[in-house]
Amino acid sequence: MISGLKELLAKSSPMTDQDKMPLFEALVQYAKTDVTPFDVPGHKMGAKMNPLKKVLGEMTMRMDVNSMNELDLLSHPQTVIKEAQQLTAKAFGVDHAYFLVNGTTIGILTMIMAACKPGDALIVPRNAHKSVMEGIVLSGAKPIFVQPEIDYYFGISHSISVANVERTMEEHPEAKVLLVTYPTYFGSMSDLEEICRIAHEKEITVIVDGAHGAHLRFMPGEMTDPISAGADAVTVSMHKTGGSLTQSSLLLIKNDRIAQRTIQKVLNMLQTTSANYLLMGSLDVARRDLAMHGKQRYSELKPIIEKAVKAIESGSRYEVLKADYVKEQFQQSYDWTKLVIRVNGVGLTGFEVYSLLKEKYGVQMELAEGYVIMAVITSSDTEESIGRLVFALKEIEKSYGKRNVVMSTQVINDQVNELVLCPRDAFYAEQESVSIDDAYGRISADTLMIYPPGIPLVIPGELISEDVIQQYHYYQETLGNVLTDTKEANHITVIKENA
Ligand SMILES: Cc1ncc(COP(=O)(O)O)c(C=O)c1O
Repeated sequence: MISGLKELLAKSSPMTDQDKMPLFEALVQYAKTDVTPFDVPGHKMGAKMNPLKKVLGEMTMRMDVNSMNELDLLSHPQTVIKEAQQLTAKAFGVDHAYFLVNGTTIGILTMIMAACKPGDALIVPRNAHKSVMEGIVLSGAKPIFVQPEIDYYFGISHSISVANVERTMEEHPEAKVLLVTYPTYFGSMSDLEEICRIAHEKEITVIVDGAHGAHLRFMPGEMTDPISAGADAVTVSMHKTGGSLTQSSLLLIKNDRIAQRTIQKVLNMLQTTSANYLLMGSLDVARRDLAMHGKQRYSELKPIIEKAVKAIESGSRYEVLKADYVKEQFQQSYDWTKLVIRVNGVGLTGFEVYSLLKEKYGVQMELAEGYVIMAVITSSDTEESIGRLVFALKEIEKSYGKRNVVMSTQVINDQVNELVLCPRDAFYAEQESVSIDDAYGRISADTLMIYPPGIPLVIPGELISEDVIQQYHYYQETLGNVLTDTKEANHITVIKENA
């Protein structure tokens, strides 16, 4: 083993195979080798000093290399990447694990394209991430949307209910695949075990967008991770909650409902041929951390979060979203590492509190909605970091709080847009750009989206309703950045009439 890492590892838990980091160790070893690179990348291991090297440092530049014998090849792994992926598969309890270097987005596209042929019916929550909608366009799958449970009090949506999914499966016996977001951005989790049981009885493959749940399997006790619940394929953003570098994710496959050969083929179509070794190496390190220390770190974190929740609510009009509430109101479980705080009770919108936290107290939240703000807590947080958030919230209530509760009819989109054209057909149809105010009744060829959370207001093939237009204006006024694929301001691309 390479020097320097030895001491670090000596402090770890007892050796298991999860202690190994084959890819990361090979990468560090290579970076320390006296080699003259005549391969790409052209910075040649950071040969010349420039601002990038100055800030990132010698070792980072030397580790930014391309595939070669010593370091394996992501598209056809044979040695250290293969070994690292096998260790990952073991840690997550799956048959196969794949390293992803373009985020969970690429995993979602791959799961959909591998599981659905053009025309196959895919059941999907309407509040799914934009990558799901893009997977539908790319694969040519026919979406059957399920409306999630709407929480008007917190102004957010939760996951889909078991009853709703079951009804949809009965109404659509042609359904081949079901996609579940687990947990949702805000941390809600449907009874996935029951959903998988029902789906599998009907020969329906269950794929999971687990972008926000990389940590679930490594938490103490009470939470079920998607693989234990019976899912066939899951993609997790290790970079979001698992500790790896941004853009690195994992695709996890269990059972043989989706052939491994198909997965690797689709991945090789979608991923770069120059996979970033810093990203892949970080997956190796993050997997080791979670497998070796996850349970202990999350056990230590839980009382810190509980204490913070109490402190936020004490003598205040803030309210924190809690597992008991989600269970009672929506029969779903809840990931307590997501701190969703209802702030409209103190007379401010989530957007206002989000900005105040950043501008006045240097606290960056994950996102804001009309009534809430959300913090993502991970095992890298401490009593001190969480304490800063609590302190800032208290100060904001004191200094900026108003008497009246903020209420808005626009705070949550609970309307189901009518899908009149298959998203792929809409994507390829003749199109034109129109002002959003003139778009009522037209078929969208565009995705209107608020990021974060990246959930579309309208997708290609849907009819543009008055609600879509109102929601657009609401987010434009409160956030100022509804994302469209159209260059002109306040315009949307629609299908040409009589085309
Ligand atoms: C629910 C959900 N799914 C998928 C994604 C895509 O993940 P990534 O950014 O890792 O590509 C996101 C990103 O925010 C998300 O929120």
